[in-house]
Amino acid sequence: MSAVDLKGLLAGAGDEHERWARTINPQFVRVLRTIGFDRTWASADGAYLYDTDGNRYLDMLGGFGMYNVGRNNPRIRAALIEALELETPGSVQLGVTALPGLLAEALLARAPSRLERVLFTSTGTEAIEAALKLGRAATKRTRVLSVDHGFHGLTLGALSANGNPEFTARFGPLLPGFDRVPFGDLDALEQELRSEDVALFLVEPIQGKGVHLPPAGYLEGAQALCRKYGTLFCVDEVQTGFGRTGTMFAFEHWGLEPDLVPVAKSLSGGYVPVGALMMSRAVHSAVYDSMENAVSHGSTFAPNELAMAAGLATLHELDERNLVAQSARLGERLLELTRPLVEEFDVVREVRGLGLMWAIEFGEPEKSGRLSWRMIEKMQPGLFAQLVAAPLFAKHKILSQVAGHRMAVLKALPPLVLSDEDVDYFVDALSATIKQAQRMPTSLTRFALTAAGIR
Ligand SMILES: Cc1ncc(COP(=O)(O)O)c(C=O)c1O
Repeated sequence: MSAVDLKGLLAGAGDEHERWARTINPQFVRVLRTIGFDRTWASADGAYLYDTDGNRYLDMLGGFGMYNVGRNNPRIRAALIEALELETPGSVQLGVTALPGLLAEALLARAPSRLERVLFTSTGTEAIEAALKLGRAATKRTRVLSVDHGFHGLTLGALSANGNPEFTARFGPLLPGFDRVPFGDLDALEQELRSEDVALFLVEPIQGKGVHLPPAGYLEGAQALCRKYGTLFCVDEVQTGFGRTGTMFAFEHWGLEPDLVPVAKSLSGGYVPVGALMMSRAVHSAVYDSMENAVSHGSTFAPNELAMAAGLATLHELDERNLVAQSARLGERLLELTRPLVEEFDVVREVRGLGLMWAIEFGEPEKSGRLSWRMIEKMQPGLFAQLVAAPLFAKHKILSQVAGHRMAVLKALPPLVLSDEDVDYFVDALSATIKQAQRMPTSLTRFALTAAGIR
């Protein structure tokens, strides 16, 4: 019996959109209302969300990639309940407990041998902050290099490495010593590294904003250049980790051996905030080099025992249900079924992805529909993708997202537990929606006009 009657509170909660707008963020609620995403959510299970009218929605967004093992996964929940019932000691702070070491061991067992230590955090952006700080201290260098359009979180350090002006513009001055190079450009990277003052090169193996895959040889070349010039190679697996791309970590596709690997999101099955920085022994021992420096970096809640229990259960679940292989297989199916859309629709420019990290990019049609496209683009660049996401949600009950600011790219990061039938349903709905959006009936144009006035 809980001290707070949650069930009663929820039953009598009334209009959550009104309360959210009043107490948390009215602009966000305006956006939801404008694009028609203001449903009242009742429950969730695996790859599905349910609203209070009993409608089932296919979740192709996966909580921005935190539900790889599915929403409300019963085995992760059981591990959490067990941890609570065991009344484990919690954070002793001046003392250690078993669960964090067990999860660190389990993580390292799945990573290349170069990675030997784990620093736990509570979020992905904190794992990035740890990489920035430890990278600087370990190399005794100050510069940090990242790439254009890179995304690593929104705290000030991570933001300083962000390559998207829409996130950085109003929050300057950012930290000194941060520079960016174009993603995929090894010459530009070498030019920056040559001065031998760059502590770390921070890169997503597949860029989350827009879902951009690296050109052949790029990540391997970047790693070699980092080694040559004494720069740490930091591969941000916050979004791509834990089976998302069809391997446990995306860096496995290119046989990489990074020095620093931040992870987060799906590590706790979506239940408890968690993050971790996996790193080489060399980095760790250079920073934690004496008893005096034994607590150089950390935070009160990291590692917390519930996150650790959920993490152990999540790794177990990925293994037991073969979800990494399932991600590879279903991702291949999704690509196979959606690639023909490029031929079928003038407005579809490209379909790309790896595992269950997938995107479709739209572009100005060469034949009919050109004028409508231009009108829509004039209202707001990239708006066409919203013209697809909105009816996918309203008509086909599929939750998806536009892949970034002013981008005509629709993205999917579904829970890895979705079925073959779910993939087929998504593809059929997508195809029907593009067909309609391309014809741009009046209702959609009206929607576009309203949506353009969101901000
Ligand atoms: C690649 C990448 N790095 C870092 C982050 C930040 O993680 P968090 O939102 O847990 O702070 C994200 C979040 O989307 C991400 O996609």
